[in-house]
Amino acid sequence: MAAPLTSKPLVSDFASSVSHIPSTYVRSMSDRPKLSQVETSGDTIPLIDLRDLHGPNRAKIIRQIAQACSTYGFFQIKNHGVSETTVNKMLTIAREFFHQPESERMKYYSTDSTKTTRVSTSFNVSADKILNWRDYLRLHCFPIKDFIDEWPENPVSFKEIIAEYATSVRALVLRLLEAISESLGLERDHISNRLGTHAQHMAFNYYPPCPEPELTYGLPGHKDPTAITVLLQDQVSGLQVFKDDKWVAVYPIPNTFVVNIGDQMQVISNEKYKSVLHRAVVNTEKERLSIPTFYFPSTDAVIGPAKELINGQASPAVYKSFPFVEYWDKFWDRSLATASCLDAFKAPTT
Ligand code: OGA
Ligand code: NI
Repeated sequence: MAAPLTSKPLVSDFASSVSHIPSTYVRSMSDRPKLSQVETSGDTIPLIDLRDLHGPNRAKIIRQIAQACSTYGFFQIKNHGVSETTVNKMLTIAREFFHQPESERMKYYSTDSTKTTRVSTSFNVSADKILNWRDYLRLHCFPIKDFIDEWPENPVSFKEIIAEYATSVRALVLRLLEAISESLGLERDHISNRLGTHAQHMAFNYYPPCPEPELTYGLPGHKDPTAITVLLQDQVSGLQVFKDDKWVAVYPIPNTFVVNIGDQMQVISNEKYKSVLHRAVVNTEKERLSIPTFYFPSTDAVIGPAKELINGQASPAVYKSFPFVEYWDKFWDRSLATASCLDAFKAPTT
C-alpha cells in the first residue's frame, strides 16, 4: 500500500488544505488524464427514452438498446420510472453524508473489501500503488432487510431514502435486463434467470475539488465487474468513456441515468455486447457526487455465454462457464486496472 503523506485517510479531510496533491496521488507522465485531448463535443453516448418501453414502441426501443450496447456499451436513459423526488432526495442526503464531521464518516471506515457496508477511499487501498482522488461509501442493498441495519445511522432518514431509491432502481434494472435479453434475441427472463438470486450494491462516490486534476484520477480507466451499472450523477461532469481510441466526456443531463454493460453481460452475451473502459476525472472547482448501482449475479451463480448465442465455428463460445465468486475474488484482489479480469475465463481455442 502506498503510505499517504497525510495522516488523514479520506481525501475529503485534507483536499482543501493542500495546494499540491501528495506524491502518493501523482501518476507517472504516461498515465495522466491528458485532459486537453478528451473529446468534449460531438460524439457522445446515445440517450434512450424509456417512456414507451411497455407500449407499442417497444420493438423500436429494444433496437435502440441493441445498437447502443453493441457500439458503445453505454447509454443514457430518460423517463426511466425512478421519480425525480427520489433521485433528488438521494443526491441531497448523500452530499450531507460526506459533509458530516470526519469522526462520523470514519465510524464506517474499512479497507476490508468483504465488508458489506463501509467507507473507504481510492479503490482498494490494500492494492493501489497510486491512490485515487475519491472517497466512497459502498453498501449492499438487496435484499434490503439483510443489510439495512448496518447502513449509516446518520444523516437521519439516510436509511429510509437509500431503501426507497434502491427499490426503485432495482425495478428499473429488472426492466432493463428484460429489454437487454430481448435485444439479444433471448427469452425475456434469460439474463435475470442467469444471475441466481441477484445482488445489488451501491457506491456513493465523493470527489473533492483537486488542486492538480491533470496529475491524478477520481477513478482510473476500468471496466465494471457487474452485469449492468446504473449511474446517477450530480450536475458536475467527470465521467469519460473510451470510444474509438479516445476518451469522450459524458455530460450530465438532469433526470437521466447512465447505463453501462459490465463484464458479466459481456460473458452472457458471448461478446455481442462489450464492457467498456471508463474513468472519472476531477476538477479544481467543484466537488462531484456520483451514485452507481452495481447489479450482479449472486455469489452462487455460474456465469457463461448463453447457449443460444453460440453457433459452431461462426460464433464459438468466447468464455467458459465459471462460478461468479471466482471472478469476484480476482476483481478485489487487485488494484483497479484497464486490463480485464475476464482473460482468465476465456474458452480454450480449438
Ligand atoms: C464506478 C464508476 C464513474 C463516475 O464507480 O465504477 O465508474 O462517474 N464511476 O463516478
Ligand atoms: Ni465504473
